[in-house]
Amino acid sequence: MEHANIVILGAGAAGLFCAGSAVAQGRRVVVLDHAPTPAEKIRISGGGRCNFTNLATGPDRFLSDNPRFAASALARYRPQAFVDLVDRAGIAWHEKTQGQLFCDGKATQITDMLLDRMAGAELRLGTRIDGVAQDGDRFVVATAGGSISTGRVVVATGGKSIPKIGATGLGYDLARQFGLRLVETRPALVPLTFAEQDLALCRPLAGLSVEARITHGKGSFRDALLFTHRGLSGPVILQISSFWQAGEVLTIDLAPDRDIAADLKAARGGKAQVATVLAQMLPERLAQSVAADAGLAQARLADQPNARLDALGARVNRWQVRPVGTEGYRTAEVTLGGVDTRDLDARTMQARQVPALAFIGECVDVTGWLGGYNFQWAWASADAAGRAA
Ligand code: FDA
Repeated sequence: MEHANIVILGAGAAGLFCAGSAVAQGRRVVVLDHAPTPAEKIRISGGGRCNFTNLATGPDRFLSDNPRFAASALARYRPQAFVDLVDRAGIAWHEKTQGQLFCDGKATQITDMLLDRMAGAELRLGTRIDGVAQDGDRFVVATAGGSISTGRVVVATGGKSIPKIGATGLGYDLARQFGLRLVETRPALVPLTFAEQDLALCRPLAGLSVEARITHGKGSFRDALLFTHRGLSGPVILQISSFWQAGEVLTIDLAPDRDIAADLKAARGGKAQVATVLAQMLPERLAQSVAADAGLAQARLADQPNARLDALGARVNRWQVRPVGTEGYRTAEVTLGGVDTRDLDARTMQARQVPALAFIGECVDVTGWLGGYNFQWAWASADAAGRAA
């Protein structure tokens, strides 16, 4: 049987990074992935430009049942360390907004950099993983290409999002097999969908983007909101989707810089229609739609009593919607929940009860906000496990 010091399951962001960190410790590393190409999610990330980190990274940018868990790894592998790697590789980048760093060119430059960094490790793509069994103080990883005996296994198989490009629940199955607890998983950073009867407003506005503010639970975000044929999307919706649970009502401010009711009252006078005045405060399509929805499509602003303008204002500044669901793992950027951090060592990512087995990246119950945080968690957790290996 073949022997390796470390077998890493998954050649995604975390798996490749962990391989580089472990090779630097002089280990013989084998990385396995069933996909034909490594790190498909890096390729499609950030609209093809990979938002590879966020300078504002800190434990407060992550959701987890145990919010402090990520602090140790994040403190030991900071965004600047990754930026240094990117600079050394000669990859041009820019800061978009709020500390988000993107490649100027293709996202695959990041994958190439990670592959260079792990030179010496063996990467086996298109390899089906049939199982992991404990064999005394070692593991046997059974693959379609034969079995590998190894002293350590690092599980970096990611979450369930985008099965089309290779996501599976293998990490969760292995966690269960070795007695680790799981925090319930659900799609996050995902568009929200509406029931047919609630789509009346969204559908005609499909494609329109407006700046919006949404506060829900512990999440509060201000960013672009996109109306779609199925409901709502855009960064502010993706962010809040991580905090939203099925059945809950969201209150959305579609004009965060204005008090629409007060502004309409102040504009009263003359012969202007409600929709015309509203269109000076909001994108025209939205103004028309909101006025029509309130039965004021042709109404004159001067004729409207305060109560009606208050209701119209609330319709914009406190729009209440009850999404029926999300677009699910088909389009979700990440999976919330996963391997319960109570069963992992925060410094090494090793399972407390099975120290030679580590879990890193998205399969762990640490989920970042939108904006480069999820990759930073992948790098940081991978480095922690790779150094410990
Ligand atoms: P990742 O999913 O990267 O890798 C897991 C690997 O395991 C894959 O290669 C997969 O094929 C393999 N695998 C799974 N099951 C297997 C099995 N049964 N057998 C063998 N191999 C198996 N984040 C961010 O910070 N900035 C961004 O710009 C974006 N953009 C973005 C866009 C889109 C469209 C998506 C879907 C996601 C993002 N993300 C992101 C999130 C980011 O991509 C994600 O958090 C990381 O890729 C997670 O890294 P992992 O290595 O944990 O999983």
